[in-house]
Amino acid sequence: MLTILLTLGCSEPAQPPQVKSAVVAPAPAPAPAPVTVDPTRLGVFAPLPAAMTGDGKPAAPALVDLGRTLYYDTRFSKNQDVSCNSCHLLDSYGVDGMPTSTGHKGQKGGRNAPTSYNAAGHLAQFWDGRAADVEAQAKGPVLNPIEMAMPNEKAVVGVLTSIPGYKTLFEAAFTGDKAPITYDHMAQAIGAFERGLTTPGPFDRFLAGDASALTDAQKAGLNTFLDTGCVACHTGTYVGGSMYQKVGLVQPWPNQADPGRVKVTNNEADTMFFKVPSLRNIEKTGPYFHDGSVADLDTAVTMMGRHQLGKELTAEQVKSIRSFLGALTGTPDAAYIAKPTLPESGPKTPKPDPT
Ligand code: HEC
Ligand code: HEC
Repeated sequence: MLTILLTLGCSEPAQPPQVKSAVVAPAPAPAPAPVTVDPTRLGVFAPLPAAMTGDGKPAAPALVDLGRTLYYDTRFSKNQDVSCNSCHLLDSYGVDGMPTSTGHKGQKGGRNAPTSYNAAGHLAQFWDGRAADVEAQAKGPVLNPIEMAMPNEKAVVGVLTSIPGYKTLFEAAFTGDKAPITYDHMAQAIGAFERGLTTPGPFDRFLAGDASALTDAQKAGLNTFLDTGCVACHTGTYVGGSMYQKVGLVQPWPNQADPGRVKVTNNEADTMFFKVPSLRNIEKTGPYFHDGSVADLDTAVTMMGRHQLGKELTAEQVKSIRSFLGALTGTPDAAYIAKPTLPESGPKTPKPDPT
């Protein structure tokens, strides 16, 4: 038998290794010990809630439905060509994939668009935290001259009032209100929708007790993330989003053009402070940093080691951390984010204004 197989092997040069090994199989290497993560180190994290509301329950369906419709509607932008979804594409993990976004008349802003997924749970909104919550945040882009560029709140209410279907949607969301179409209600509805934009994934299942939800490489990466000190800033339910920190804490950040939070607080000590971003879905939300200056996640991780921790991470450490970051990619709820049919414009709906 042995002879036959070896002979066969020799006559078929493409296959001899398999044939040989089938016959003289080496003793199997001892299985590597499974990687474990000390459960006491996991207490700083928490699984995503079903909704980022006070009680973790989704807001009223009529309010969420209105918010979803508004999120996708371009008609309350000046040229009726920009919506929230233009820069925070819900089928692209809530980002546009550009260093900085393009708004009204193709104008570019100075900061990278963060994802709208899982944002509602952060301590505040924007890179510098200048809006307290998603409801307050939603009022910003609509009137921002380089984003949706509407001239004032009244003009926005005018557009929404001119679209007959919105009357029904606002009435359903704000029952009993005689004049439900207001700027505040618009923002409240968009905020309610955003509070349901969570993306549970493997890390949540792992935190909930399913040890098999992470591969050994991801668990080892989580240990590297904890050991190197990333967790000092990227912590909590969102693996970030819970504090402001100086970018370039140990070594000055290369780009000092945007001083960050100091513009909000007028406190010199806040110079170059930014909200620590959430690392959920980080593999999908590049380019990275407030200025969108880094396209590649390995480079971003290496720079974090250098500038935030004063550590030159080895290629192996970077690779290991990357494995863990992969476990932070979750799954948006396809039904929740599906673009609804927008209500039709009425005779009084203004025409697009490209100026
Ligand atoms: C032209 C592109 C553009 C449009 C349109 C736009 N955004 Fe943004 N969004 C940005 C940018 C850029 C930032 C970061 C700005 C900053 O931090 O100063 C941002 C920040 C945010 C944040 C904060 C996230 C965080 O982690 O802090 C949320 C939430 C958000 N936008 C939701 C919305 C909603 C809702 C709309 C529609 C009403 C909208 N955006 C329209 C580009 C856009
Ligand atoms: C001292 C606090 C601190 C530490 C430690 C830290 N970070 Fe950060 N991290 C930040 C801040 C602040 C930002 C936002 C910087 C900016 O854009 O200006 C950030 C941004 C990032 C980003 C880009 C996020 C995005 O959405 O653009 C990644 C990725 C990241 N950190 C990963 C890591 C990793 C991995 C480690 C450990 C090697 C780490 N960080 C250590 C504070 C920290």
